[in-house]
Amino acid sequence: MAIHFEDIKEFIGSRVSWDKREDLFTPEAGQLIRQKVAERTVLVFPQLGPTDEEQLAITNLIGPKVRLTNTTNVQSNDEDVYQVTLDEKINPQPEYVLGTFFWHMDGITVDMPPPFATLLSCRIAPSKGGETEFASTYAAYEGLPDEEKAELEGMKAVHSVRASLSPIHDAIPEKHRERVLGIGLIKEHPLVWIHENGRKSLVIGTTADHIVGMSVPAGRAMLTRLAEWAAQPAYSLRHKWTEGDFVIWDNTGAMHRAVPYDKSTGRMMHRTSVAGTEAVA
Ligand code: OGA
Ligand code: MN
Repeated sequence: MAIHFEDIKEFIGSRVSWDKREDLFTPEAGQLIRQKVAERTVLVFPQLGPTDEEQLAITNLIGPKVRLTNTTNVQSNDEDVYQVTLDEKINPQPEYVLGTFFWHMDGITVDMPPPFATLLSCRIAPSKGGETEFASTYAAYEGLPDEEKAELEGMKAVHSVRASLSPIHDAIPEKHRERVLGIGLIKEHPLVWIHENGRKSLVIGTTADHIVGMSVPAGRAMLTRLAEWAAQPAYSLRHKWTEGDFVIWDNTGAMHRAVPYDKSTGRMMHRTSVAGTEAVA
């Protein structure tokens, strides 16, 4: 098995290459990829061009796969593959995808551990916009001054879809606004996630509404500052999609967002998720 990893930036990202394509679809590759995702946060497989079956196979080899969204997509051939698109013929709930324009972690407001990894394959690359950005919440925590680390430990934030969609509340048609904003649960999570292996990361993003026990303005300002800190160039990465590109990232150690794009670009990504093994703790 010959799979190669080349750092993209010091703290985040590796570009993957392979001698034989079929080597990527083995249990050994699944283990290696899982370990590299945890180490490097984002893995880019340029123009791998996986089919849905291949994407599900890799997901399960890293796996097991988990279904993040109760998909209402009508053209989905397998419901474990979520089609990320603004095309209303395929996605009758575009607000959910518009919410991806803002920094977030997947599966933070559902009743299961956040997925370990998210996998996206590019089916139609947008002509303009639509890059995906990633920010390492491990590197962000690690880079904080010691006093601030100590202050944040023990704090909790309240997360909701309503909070993450607050920049677009007034753009959601009124007749289904409340239903959309009510998606998911309201969940309290520690601000600093102490993973079972002892590593620490921040649990932030626009799902975080306020800090428990802190005034709303002070808590929100702190959450905004932490997200800005994590998104600084040293800790973040932007991927410009070419059709066929495949990216896997550690959803437990990164937030991500899409650079805004228009539905007229036809942008289409296929998403799968690997189940998480630990609750935020
Ligand atoms: C998602 C997501 C980002 C993108 O589907 O959860 O955040 O660039 N997608 O489409
Ligand atoms: Mn997402």
